[in-house]
Amino acid sequence: MSEYKIYNKNCYGLPCVYKDSVDALITDPPYGISFQNNEWDKALPDKKIWQDCLHVLKPGAFGAVFSSVRLMHRMMVNLEDSGFIIKDVLFWSYLNGMPKSRDIALDIDKELGVKSKKVGDYKYVQGYKKNGAVNYKTGREKHILSPASKTGLKFKGSGLGIKPAYEPIILVQKPIEKKLSVAQNIIKYGTGALNIEETRIPYETGEGKVGHNPHPKGRVAANIIRTEAFEDGYDKFFLVPKVRQHAEDFNNHPTLKPINLMHHLVNLLTWKGQTVLDPFMGSGSTGVSAIELKRKFIGFELDKNYFKIAEKRIKGV
Ligand SMILES: C[S@@+](CC[C@H](N)C(=O)[O-])C[C@H]1O[C@@H](n2cnc3c(N)ncnc32)[C@H](O)[C@@H]1O
Repeated sequence: MSEYKIYNKNCYGLPCVYKDSVDALITDPPYGISFQNNEWDKALPDKKIWQDCLHVLKPGAFGAVFSSVRLMHRMMVNLEDSGFIIKDVLFWSYLNGMPKSRDIALDIDKELGVKSKKVGDYKYVQGYKKNGAVNYKTGREKHILSPASKTGLKFKGSGLGIKPAYEPIILVQKPIEKKLSVAQNIIKYGTGALNIEETRIPYETGEGKVGHNPHPKGRVAANIIRTEAFEDGYDKFFLVPKVRQHAEDFNNHPTLKPINLMHHLVNLLTWKGQTVLDPFMGSGSTGVSAIELKRKFIGFELDKNYFKIAEKRIKGV
């Protein structure tokens, strides 16, 4: 029987979780970037929750905390100020991120009072009718435009952002108990090391000789976790496709994480039977992964609807 405790509650204070009782923290908290204008993503978590996490984690326990390119520095400072050791930053990379940009040359035309030139029609624009790009709600049309002013032409194709192709995952550790060695800490608490064995990347068949003493299970996993194969014939990292929104019809969480990515983190940070904590579980991806991999799980989610989705998914494992 799987063992989990999930709460439709504010995680602050981590009510019902005991001091030094949790083996790993794996969480995808609000990034503080107002993603898709979601209220819960308006601010980064307060340092207080990281202090709460530190309190309930066993000495030497590791944590993996998702973050954003724009604000990972603040998240890292908060984690460090709260007492965590920053061990690494894993880059989960993918090729299907959406660049958030627009042609500034068209803004320049508008500013100068010059009408941009229509040069074509879009096949598809989100929120607009297919084959015609007419807005469902407003009826406004959207066409492919080219700048017409002199300055607009000079800055044709300029934008404000490049394509996002990775999300950082901050790897942290609660310090081991004072006066103990890592080995003594592990013997006492079962925490203090990463599970390298479980997360090795198998060699590809036909791959050339790998070092002098290749490990039978493959390479040590890298701190780049990528989603698409490069053209070099074999995967040296770890391949995880970014999950489509609404991949499960009942799950409308906008920042759903892929289960095989969560499997990699659960496998890296814990051993079977250990307890994983996610204070910001959303639709419960960390919990689904933890239970599938025979770990115990404690999760918190403030939003009632997301909590119900998480409950359904975790119960279904
Ligand atoms: C980035 S999402 C997690 C998504 C999750 N990884 C998934 O795959 O579904 C962060 C979640 O934290 C929740 N949240 C924000 N503040 C919270 C708080 N104080 N206590 C508990 N949950 C909170 C939000 O409602 C949101 O669903």
